[in-house]
Amino acid sequence: MSELSPADIAKKAAAEAAVALIEDGMRLGLGTGSTAVFMVRALAERVKAEGLSLRCAATSVATAELAESLGIRIEALDDIGWLDLTLDGADEVDPDLNLIKGAGGALLREKIVAKASDRMVVMADGSKVVEVLGAFHLPVEVIPFGWQTTQELISRALDEIGLTQRPILLRKRDDEPYRTDEQNLILDLSLEEIPEPDRLAQRLNAIPGVVENGLFLHICDLALIGRPDGTVAELTAEEAGA
Ligand code: A5P
Repeated sequence: MSELSPADIAKKAAAEAAVALIEDGMRLGLGTGSTAVFMVRALAERVKAEGLSLRCAATSVATAELAESLGIRIEALDDIGWLDLTLDGADEVDPDLNLIKGAGGALLREKIVAKASDRMVVMADGSKVVEVLGAFHLPVEVIPFGWQTTQELISRALDEIGLTQRPILLRKRDDEPYRTDEQNLILDLSLEEIPEPDRLAQRLNAIPGVVENGLFLHICDLALIGRPDGTVAELTAEEAGA
């Protein structure tokens, strides 16, 4: 077995702590990304060992395929209806447990699933914890039709709220525009910092070509932050004063 890097040890520890929160009979949302991969693997082990009866919805095709390959049945979110708990990774976590998500391109389904859950728990390594959101690029999912016009409207909206001259890049994969599971495009916004995340999220989502943005505000209830020594710190919204 190959050795895990310190970051992966931390992600795995956070993922395992998250899976420990799962109880028999729960309806679960399964997140996307490298930390979520550890979570799905740990979940599959618990299901096998304990014969847990769960209902699971996935936040991406990739997660659904991994889960199914490990014996976890994935159902459509609408067939389950409402979820008890969603476990997902994040690109940034601030002290109020507001998040940036979407580096893996799954932000739209991730937000739909998280908002359909009684509880959202984030699993991350310490590098994701920030004082102010925005050093990491903010992904914005846009409709392909007229995407350059949408980009211009985003740029004007940023200007209006004092985030002038911020680079906006069309996400690519293998030199082609990256397509989400919904066949949309992603624009990555380099903002440096986001002083007013609520205002920015509202402005972005008011633009017609914008489907959703990667700011997850007032959604996360608990963040499990893994450390390279395998221990895990808990960060709650209450502690953060949110
Ligand atoms: C997927 O679109 C993202 O929101 C991921 O949850 C986020 O990027 C965290 O990914 P890692 O666990 O790979 O860091």
